[in-house]
Amino acid sequence: MPFPQQKKFAFDNELPRRSFFRLAGLAWAMGVAALTGAFGLWTAAIARFFVPNAANEPNQTFKAGFPEEYAAGRVETKFKNRYQTWIVSFAHNGRRRIVALRAVCTHLGCITNWNESENRFKCPCHGSGFSAIGINLEGPAPRPLDRYAIRFAEDGQLEIDRAKVFCYRPGWEEEQGSFVEV
Ligand code: FES
Repeated sequence: MPFPQQKKFAFDNELPRRSFFRLAGLAWAMGVAALTGAFGLWTAAIARFFVPNAANEPNQTFKAGFPEEYAAGRVETKFKNRYQTWIVSFAHNGRRRIVALRAVCTHLGCITNWNESENRFKCPCHGSGFSAIGINLEGPAPRPLDRYAIRFAEDGQLEIDRAKVFCYRPGWEEEQGSFVEV
């Protein structure tokens, strides 16, 4: 006949051991899950780096509406966030000229803002200011805002091609493709 104390002792000893293995199993499973998750995130980040998600990348070319929508003196700001582009219309030698300014500051590359009350683009980083047609007026920016190529699409809309950039150089404002006239 077993000694009662002995049986109780065996039961007490078994319980912590089972709990220990259960906890160890749980910790192992959590560790594996965490490692799997981290590996998945790492793999996704690497894949995102090497294979850009085309759906998230804005097109190099986009349409900006019809020239009639751009009265002289108008600065269109709605393409800033997606395309970093300002569309500007202004009077030039009796005609209306439309350009697509690159919103990137020519100092160190911050994105400029349009300041309606001052009638100029302002850079939030070091205070450069540019006129409504992109000429550098103040601050450390060394040259005017760059221009994207602009043309008329077949349907008559303005079409901006961000793959082609016109940077300042003497006579640049007359370079074909850097503006359209209506
Ligand atoms: S980046 Fe615009 S002023 Fe420096």
